[in-house]
Amino acid sequence: MSDALRVRAFSKINHGLKVLARRPDGYHELRTIFQTVALCDRLEISLSRHKGPIVLKCTGAGVPAGRENLAYRAAELWRRTRGTDRAIKIQLTKRIPAGSGLGGGSSDSAATLLALERLATPSLNREQLIQLAGRLGSDVPMFIFGGRVLGCGRGEEIYPLADIPSHPCLIVFPGFGVSTGEAYRALSLRLTKTAASRKIGEFGARPHFPLESWGPAENDFEQIVFAKWPGLASLKRRFIRAGAETASLTGSGSALYAVFDSAEQLLRAVRLVPPDWQIFRTRTLPRREYQRRLFEG
Ligand code: C5P
Repeated sequence: MSDALRVRAFSKINHGLKVLARRPDGYHELRTIFQTVALCDRLEISLSRHKGPIVLKCTGAGVPAGRENLAYRAAELWRRTRGTDRAIKIQLTKRIPAGSGLGGGSSDSAATLLALERLATPSLNREQLIQLAGRLGSDVPMFIFGGRVLGCGRGEEIYPLADIPSHPCLIVFPGFGVSTGEAYRALSLRLTKTAASRKIGEFGARPHFPLESWGPAENDFEQIVFAKWPGLASLKRRFIRAGAETASLTGSGSALYAVFDSAEQLLRAVRLVPPDWQIFRTRTLPRREYQRRLFEG
């Protein structure tokens, strides 16, 4: 006997991302605004009444099926925390490209935690879920809330912000991924102590992130990623010329996004994308809708 649940794991974009100093724990202090978008992976999770293994099956290219998969690790951590060895089956259908900066793995992981809590008699409060999520990865906790979220610390210290209305959002993926760890290491070499402290000062004096509206999204990873793949930089410029409210690399890349006021503008911008790139026509997802649609099947 087991109970099953379908859950959607939505993706995120970063609206601005400032990388500050390297911390003693090896991570980097950052400031960003996360925004969830409707593009999603789907998971079907079943929790048996009997003890047994965790089994993860995955459809989609380049996604690990075992312990390296963050959904598997979420199930493992959940069982440890709840002190149970009930068997868990996860069927994951991937749509969010891996290594794109759209937070697919992190979202799969948060969705697994949320679904298991719902399937069992819930016992973890939101604070505890956020704390568990932070142990799975820096970007996982924001998916416990969804919507528009300020991320500090290594990304796991989160503050839900007031949402802005849903906007059409074009996401393009060039077909190759960027390793987050490597991108941080490359950026770290450029961050001298002086530069880091100057940036902290600037952050206080002139907020980089307009809290109420879209604005120019400054993402520090663009320095590294655009230098290596100039095609991404020129496409961002073309999106902005085509009327995007904002356009940016998301996370450490390699996906690029552009937010528009209208679906017509978005459609016109699609024509600018090189033919072999993957295109996702989606929209930003405010918190209330995010929460409602998580378990809509
Ligand atoms: O936390 P997560 O596993 O997603 O991070 C992947 C890698 O990215 C880390 O191992 C670390 O090298 C780097 N990272 C960082 N600073 C952050 C977040 C991630 O250096 N704030």
